[in-house]
Amino acid sequence: FLPPSEMSAGGAILAKDISGNPIPASQILAQPVGTRALVAGLAGEPTYLTVQQDGTLDIMGIVDNCTHLGCTFPWNEIDREFQCPCHGSRYSADGSVVRGPAPLPLKLVRVAVQDNAIWLSPWTELDPRTGETPWWV
Ligand code: FES
Repeated sequence: FLPPSEMSAGGAILAKDISGNPIPASQILAQPVGTRALVAGLAGEPTYLTVQQDGTLDIMGIVDNCTHLGCTFPWNEIDREFQCPCHGSRYSADGSVVRGPAPLPLKLVRVAVQDNAIWLSPWTELDPRTGETPWWV
């Protein structure tokens, strides 16, 4: 882990709730495995954080902004997909496109927890889903 001060220098911010208050990691990790918790992320973008089997948060945060025309969308726990209500795009759990018209995978942000604080920073390395430079960089 990098100390928060260094991460802040790299553009990291604290994940916040709808009222603008930082959300402690323990609050999200108290929810069931597989929960996709929506937080206010970088530049206020709504971002899904995933509670993993091992009781940690996935380092990949998924931005709730459809790559078709920008609608927000829910997680469907039964189908285990993000499903956009606007034109029917579907994305797998990691944000890869399952069905268009969405042309691109969902944007990622990097998630790090330190001292119960959730830090979000821009995802600038290769996109692990495609092995390529991310489209948003
Ligand atoms: Fe999501 Fe069109 S905006 S499918």
